Amino acid sequence: MIEVINLTKKFGDFTAVEDANLTINYGSFIGLLGPNGAGKTTLIKMLIGLLKPTKGEVFIEGQKMNRHNNDIKSKIGIIPQHTNLDKELTVYENLVFAARLFKIKKKDHGIKIEKLLHFMELEKSRDKQASQLSGGMQRKLMIAKALINEPEIIFLDEPTVGVDINGRRKIWDILKAMRSMGKTILLTTHYIEEADYLCDEVCFIDQGRIFENDTPAILKERLGEYTVEYFDENLKTNYKYFDTRADAIVFSKSIENFTYTIRDTTLEDVFYNFTNRKVM
Ligand SMILES: Nc1ncnc2c1ncn2[C@@H]1O[C@H](COP(=O)(O)OP(=O)(O)OP(=O)(O)O)[C@@H](O)[C@H]1O
Ligand SMILES: [Mg+2]
Repeated sequence: MIEVINLTKKFGDFTAVEDANLTINYGSFIGLLGPNGAGKTTLIKMLIGLLKPTKGEVFIEGQKMNRHNNDIKSKIGIIPQHTNLDKELTVYENLVFAARLFKIKKKDHGIKIEKLLHFMELEKSRDKQASQLSGGMQRKLMIAKALINEPEIIFLDEPTVGVDINGRRKIWDILKAMRSMGKTILLTTHYIEEADYLCDEVCFIDQGRIFENDTPAILKERLGEYTVEYFDENLKTNYKYFDTRADAIVFSKSIENFTYTIRDTTLEDVFYNFTNRKVM
């Protein structure tokens, strides 16, 4: 459904994304996971035709993506990293504005907007100015705007940044519901637990390169499902990975003098193992 081939973006001498290759199948939920400055926004902007690649191509449903391809653009919904709401307008008016942008017939506005307000649990806030909404509610309104056109493919750039834990869980539920409706979803995040909880497949990106790409379960399994984390005599935290809890316990006997824990391996461990750095 989406094919990304050798996608590269340079800004002057600086390479923000280098040779990204990715296949996204119909109906799957992909997470692009990486720290600040990894190249997530740059990559997503090339996917949606907002930024011209220096090299490489993006095909969506077999058609080459570029900013003038209105046929593809009508099939995708975009929730950018920074707000795209009109803060002076109400929730309802923001949605009318989005409906007009997509040239949806005026007689259909009412029913589509009501459906979205209901789906997003924004009914009670319909007459509030966007500027009066909490961060989480603003994100939900941004998602509602992107869904007005009933897109098949949805791109979200850090949809839960600055949202408290309750708001984040609500947004996660909405994304899960969209997934179960058969939508194809790509999101970027630097929250490990977000990628782990939501995504069928996780792509790790760091310094412009995609260096791992698989299901969360396989990524963790490959490293070893059990982690022994211990604090050594050099005041350094060490990590060792094991396939079985029994092996982890055997190892822990050899470091009994140190403070240690045995725990499940996380995607953070996978990232750390490759880069020697944490995602956040
Ligand atoms: N227009 C630009 N001109 C020059 N450099 C840029 C431009 N846009 C992005 N960059 C650089 O490219 C790198 C990747 O940026 P990008 O915004 O894609 O990262 P990100 O993974 O989305 O980070 P964040 O988590 O902070 O949103 C950064 O070093 C950034 O400074
Ligand atoms: Mg970004």
